[in-house]
Amino acid sequence: MAKPPSILFNTLFRADTDWDHVSLYDPDDDRPVPSPMADDTRRPWVTLTFAQSLDAKIAGEAGKQLILSGKESMVMTHWMRSMHDAILVGIGTALNDNPQLNTRHLPQLSDDGRKKYNLPRPIILDTHLRLRSDCKLLSNYKVGTGRRPWVVSTTPGSDEGFSAWEKKKKILEAAGARVINIEPSQAGLSIPSLLTILRTLGVRSLMVEGGAGVIKSFLTSAQLQDIAPSDQPSLIQTVDAIIVTVAPTFVGQEGVGYGDDLLASKMLNMKHICTELFGPDTVMGFTTTLS
Ligand SMILES: NC(=O)c1ccc[n+]([C@@H]2O[C@H](COP(=O)([O-])OP(=O)(O)OC[C@H]3O[C@@H](n4cnc5c(N)ncnc54)[C@H](OP(=O)(O)O)[C@@H]3O)[C@@H](O)[C@H]2O)c1
Repeated sequence: MAKPPSILFNTLFRADTDWDHVSLYDPDDDRPVPSPMADDTRRPWVTLTFAQSLDAKIAGEAGKQLILSGKESMVMTHWMRSMHDAILVGIGTALNDNPQLNTRHLPQLSDDGRKKYNLPRPIILDTHLRLRSDCKLLSNYKVGTGRRPWVVSTTPGSDEGFSAWEKKKKILEAAGARVINIEPSQAGLSIPSLLTILRTLGVRSLMVEGGAGVIKSFLTSAQLQDIAPSDQPSLIQTVDAIIVTVAPTFVGQEGVGYGDDLLASKMLNMKHICTELFGPDTVMGFTTTLS
């Protein structure tokens, strides 16, 4: 059977992991599928991942979707998906790209059909419940090729806003979504609050796949103090690893980046773990710590 790329093992897993079992769900095996785990038990492990051009753009003019990854690094990304319990995008990406967030590009399994690739649960950050009820994430769930998507939102303050939100919630729930409420923050939904709730819901690892707004939020939330119970230290780290694919192309100034207003003094400490080539692309794996 084809094996996941070593850059993923090296960046995401501890050395004592049961490698044969990674990425694979076997109904005859009681052990949970191995997952990257954070030392902090209040939250899942978080892998931030994206594909960028040489000039650090992740989308084209006016947010138009750009296919930056080649075939080989796309397959690497699908292996990465199979290693996480959940995969998160912002509503900007969900509306713009209508992604599937599954593992369809992985090589076919030759067994008797019982073992399957682990499918991550899709999670969408969507304050105003703008997700379309006919999106691919919901139709995949209906035909059994994707897990039930979780849509993360917040209850609006005003009565008027609340009744419109309730209506949208019912439509999304009827289409198969689970709507989860969390607190807002200054820059959208609170990421530390999201992480603690996801952990209580059993999510051990979260892969964050974009887009620009969400990448920026995870990078900047890493330093924020938030919502921990008062008897525990309150600093929540929001990124454990960054896996970035760099495509050999320039997009130019019209493209969308994620780093414009990041402050160097507030950034994470990065430790380079390894770099591998996938077709024309260079993929770098880092682990991070709070500075
Ligand atoms: N190259 C890559 O690897 C890659 C990967 C994914 C996407 N993309 C590209 O990225 C572009 C979309 O990026 P985007 O910035 O427009 O959208 P985005 O990051 O996918 O979603 C941003 C939206 O999510 C909601 N949100 C809720 N809480 C948030 C929080 N704490 N932080 C950030 N957002 C939060 C906000 O909308 P509400 O206020 O309505 O909730 C916000 O406008 C698309 O062009 C897509 O193709 C590229």
